[in-house]
Amino acid sequence: MSEASEALLRVTNIETFYGPIQAIRGVTLQVDPGQIVTVLGANGAGKTTILRTICGVMTPERGHVMFDGRDIGGISPDRVVRMGLCHVPEGREVFPFLTVQENLVMGAYTRHDRDGVHRDMEMCFGYFPVLRERAGQRAGLLSGGEQQMLAISRALMAKPKLLLLDEPSLGLSPLLTQQIFGIIRRINAEQGVAILLVEQNAHIALKTADYGYVLEVGRVVMEDACIHLMEKDDIKEFYLGHKETGVRGRRRWKRKKLWR
Ligand SMILES: Nc1ncnc2c1ncn2[C@@H]1O[C@H](COP(=O)(O)OP(=O)(O)OP(=O)(O)O)[C@@H](O)[C@H]1O
Ligand SMILES: [Mg+2]
Repeated sequence: MSEASEALLRVTNIETFYGPIQAIRGVTLQVDPGQIVTVLGANGAGKTTILRTICGVMTPERGHVMFDGRDIGGISPDRVVRMGLCHVPEGREVFPFLTVQENLVMGAYTRHDRDGVHRDMEMCFGYFPVLRERAGQRAGLLSGGEQQMLAISRALMAKPKLLLLDEPSLGLSPLLTQQIFGIIRRINAEQGVAILLVEQNAHIALKTADYGYVLEVGRVVMEDACIHLMEKDDIKEFYLGHKETGVRGRRRWKRKKLWR
């Protein structure tokens, strides 16, 4: 990735701990405006922790997170959302007792432009028509796929410049996964929203993203444009073993340490 380019997100040498346990060991990465970037890694590699550190839910012991030209270290997650950085966490976390529509309105809590909010709700219903049908239903009653659609839509309601997506395919059928990733690509292309994508399904992540980082035990061990990553033998063997799910490759990955 070009150092000279004006990065939207630039993460430099972050180190993040859970108490005495160091989860992230000096990670540097960047996302340019309008770009889709993916982070691949086995279970426990630190993918979720990176996203939590970027959005301000966790504070790194060392290193910097620059977003839109500003160091956002120590800034509350609430203000980070106002700056245009939205996180769709692992497991979706919609408000189960609120309706679909109320969840979407909650996503727009930082905004005061009622017309714009209404327009963006229509935009979300355009991307995910099932949400319009379920607008008055409690979010907790939606299927897993519908909750994922709602979680992405709720983040879109804040008008983000960058979306952090943590495993959007988790628990979804291959067909639904394809559908959701189709919409993710459209959101990126049509709204110009940059995306930092953490995904267990390496096959679809590498097809969707422009650039990728491979994480192992809290460290970046490889990075490249996705079209090049897809051609690397190690990636093919350990991540793309099974075309649909990537699962076989991933299990084997866990047993072997690479690129040391
Ligand atoms: N709340 C926590 N307390 C202590 N350690 C944690 C906590 N959450 C995560 N960890 C540890 O931090 C490391 C990174 O975890 P993280 O959840 O970021 O990995 P991940 O790559 O997202 O994994 P997965 O693919 O399973 O979602 C792991 O060793 C994990 O055990
Ligand atoms: Mg995770």
